[in-house]
Amino acid sequence: MSDKNQLHRDNILILDFGSQYTQLIARRIRDMGVFSEIKPYDCDPETIKALRPKGIILSGGPESVTETGSPRAPLIVFELGIPVLGICYGMQTMVEQQGGKVGTMSHREFGPATVNVLEEHDLFAGVSQEVIDVWMSHGDSVVTMPPDYYILASTKTCPIAAIAHRTKPWMGLQFHPEVSHTPEGEQLLQQFVKVICGCESMWVPERIIEESIQSVREKVGTDKVILALSGGVDSSVVAALLQKAIGAQLTCVFVDTGLLRLNEGDEVMRVMQAHLGVNIIRVNARDRYFAALKGVVDPEAKRKAIGGLFIEIFEEEAAKLMDAKWLAQGTIYPDVVESAKTVQGKAHVIKSHHNVGGLPADMTLKLIEPIRDLFKDEVRRLGVVLGLPYERVYCHPFPGPGLGVRVLGEVTPEAVATLQKADAIFMEELRLHGWYDKTAQAFAVYIPQKSVAVMGDARVYADVIALRAVESIDYMTAQWARLPYDLLDKVSSRIVNEVKNISRVTYDISSKPPATIEWE
Ligand code: XMP
Repeated sequence: MSDKNQLHRDNILILDFGSQYTQLIARRIRDMGVFSEIKPYDCDPETIKALRPKGIILSGGPESVTETGSPRAPLIVFELGIPVLGICYGMQTMVEQQGGKVGTMSHREFGPATVNVLEEHDLFAGVSQEVIDVWMSHGDSVVTMPPDYYILASTKTCPIAAIAHRTKPWMGLQFHPEVSHTPEGEQLLQQFVKVICGCESMWVPERIIEESIQSVREKVGTDKVILALSGGVDSSVVAALLQKAIGAQLTCVFVDTGLLRLNEGDEVMRVMQAHLGVNIIRVNARDRYFAALKGVVDPEAKRKAIGGLFIEIFEEEAAKLMDAKWLAQGTIYPDVVESAKTVQGKAHVIKSHHNVGGLPADMTLKLIEPIRDLFKDEVRRLGVVLGLPYERVYCHPFPGPGLGVRVLGEVTPEAVATLQKADAIFMEELRLHGWYDKTAQAFAVYIPQKSVAVMGDARVYADVIALRAVESIDYMTAQWARLPYDLLDKVSSRIVNEVKNISRVTYDISSKPPATIEWE
């Protein structure tokens, strides 16, 4: 969708100075139905012009504008005659570049503050009070206003908390309107995007699908395309989208490792092939995986064995489809933004995508990435509109190596079968009790450690199942979910009664950090 032929749509360009919230700004704007793209702050002027943005946002950033060599906005930003909003660092560089001065404060201000709006301005129109709570995070502040700018708002400790140019549509906020701690922030962004920049809401799933289909058709023509379908959300949405765009020209290769959840392989085939009509080659590679994993206990070695075999099998299958010209991938927008990030004073660092599969050396496939402009929540919304079942689209993340990382020690067919049953019971009860959507991720782990139990009249030595359920926003940190005791009790007794070889169930109450989400 990022090619020249795309339909023009109202869009807001965000120039990234490295703030941890930059992607959040784009998501907020897209949630208003307006397309928003992130580029590094030193993006070249021609690219900026070609995007034809209706407004530009200069993001926050970790550096201080008072330091020599700190990043500046490209001059073109102020030459296009379009609205510009600087946020935190973005406002400070705006001030410096327009002839004002920024100084380092004696104390850093983090956390909540109350802003007094001093002057009327479209930016603050519609915020419900004159005084709004905001979330500040900065160590520098404006000390001298640039010529022709005036103060829009102030806080107790930061007299210049918002500014605007007298005649040009340029403005700045010292605080972060994009974070959820700034309750009126959404309204402020909405004012900027909709009222000041005049953007219309055109970025809705139906239109995104329409545009993608058109762009894929133009690109691919009558060529054949292959896609590695994992059953995960991203590759499933790509498959559904390409099915709509090019139908039989698409062949998916679905490597069933035998390490998926209970019946998941069949479910993928039912939804994707039977229901959506996608052309899929299912490779039943279960035996090969168990053979490759025999005797392997080291977690890294297990990951390597699983990943290596995937590439081997995908290459074998791709080689049979020699007339294919394109490889489709479920790269999504956060991967793209991370890859393009600029490191101050250094060359652009290009990180390789995690989801690039191996390819036969003699195959030169061109890459097509139809969802590379989309955030995960947008991918999900698209999936629903494309006809994927809600439960699949909103299912918890599942690691690439699958149950291989959830069986501790050697991955045997028996251990996987046991784990699949226990996990299915846990998921069923979570859904039944309304807890599935309240947790970010939940699963069972197989611990090959014998412990005693008395079942019937006999003493048995059997293995342990650990349950893990976490709450998390970004999976970088996570809290163990406070599941109700009754629910845990039900799951535990069902597993012990219904799953052979399990005599004990435990619940993992470790948070991340230091514990990771997966056990491995
Ligand atoms: P950890 O265990 O590192 O997991 O706290 C964070 C998130 O990443 C998922 N995860 C993986 N996903 N391939 C993946 O595609 C992997 O090898 C992998 N390892 C962990 C994990 O499920 C959690 O959502």
